[in-house]
Amino acid sequence: MNVLGIETSCDETACAVVADGRRIRSNVIASQMAEHARYGGVVPEVASRRHVEQINVVLKRALDDAGIGFDGIGLVAVTNRPGLLGALLVGVSAAKALALALDVPLVGVHHIEAHLYANFISEGASSPPDFPAVALVVSGGHTDLFHVRGHGDYVLLGRTRDDAAGEAFDKCARLMGLAYPGGPAIEQAAREGDPAAVPLPRAWLPGTHEFSFSGLKTAVRRLAQGETPPPTADLAASFQEAVVDVLVGKTLAAARAVGAPRVFLAGGVAANGRLRARMQAACDEAGLPLFYPPPILCTDNAAMIAATGYFHWQAGHVDGLDLDTIASEPLAAGPAASS
Ligand code: KG4
Ligand code: ZN
Repeated sequence: MNVLGIETSCDETACAVVADGRRIRSNVIASQMAEHARYGGVVPEVASRRHVEQINVVLKRALDDAGIGFDGIGLVAVTNRPGLLGALLVGVSAAKALALALDVPLVGVHHIEAHLYANFISEGASSPPDFPAVALVVSGGHTDLFHVRGHGDYVLLGRTRDDAAGEAFDKCARLMGLAYPGGPAIEQAAREGDPAAVPLPRAWLPGTHEFSFSGLKTAVRRLAQGETPPPTADLAASFQEAVVDVLVGKTLAAARAVGAPRVFLAGGVAANGRLRARMQAACDEAGLPLFYPPPILCTDNAAMIAATGYFHWQAGHVDGLDLDTIASEPLAAGPAASS
């Protein structure tokens, strides 16, 4: 069955067609990044307007690329939470119109769950990962560690107390005079730098699976705005290393704590080459298989929305045409609240 995925929660207008939740037939992403770069971050009002302009263009391209017409769609999956409300409304309205007109089921998808499900989209003949796992979701808005016990069965082990990892990349890039989005800009600058050149703090928060990046950001600000700032490449490499050290160390500690036999990595920051390499080395050493999506499926896309919608539909979860949009909703509760 062909699932149409629609994603408009932030600054990417994206539509994709995914067969049976795993095989990508098309994956179209219209990014507004260049426009928001002028402001150094996403401007919600601008994002909504661009989604309105782009949604039908992107939808048509996704169908054309997949070689199907409207009658080839069997299910519509759309991000309805969490995200910018005005932006979410564009995708959800389009999805409802399609589901009604085509008389096919509609599934509302949680954006963070979809980042996890990017790991289930096949590359070649690979089989989907098994459960249970520990999953690190690192994006512009989230740094969450989950114990993933099965499809739709998550326990939140810990999250950031302040900035998300992606937010730290974006804010620190700005302090270093690098472009938005900061993640790719810092990764690029760091290639020429020494990760040990600038001593920077790491918040280990022992005894918890939580994160904090605000102290690191303050340290970068002090150095970047000081009398003799370090070379940008060294500061970028040292900052990236500090973030990666903590992300890798705490993910492995969480996997040990819950006895998870595998690790999933997901979200925009999971596109970072240094994080992928260091996480791979640590998982190899611990004997834990590691799964991460190709970079294009780490950052926001609609293929992951279609994949998630398919698994929900299979489990019998579909939504009505009264599907709402929700600005903020955790994917899962912590251990105390779960059974
Ligand atoms: O998942 P995503 O596309 O959108 C959200 O749901 O937030 O993540 C975007 C975040 C941005 O903060 C961006 O700077 C970061 O992911 N990012 C990266 C890289 N590519 C994107 N961070 C580090 N290294 C990268 N290569
Ligand atoms: Zn995202």
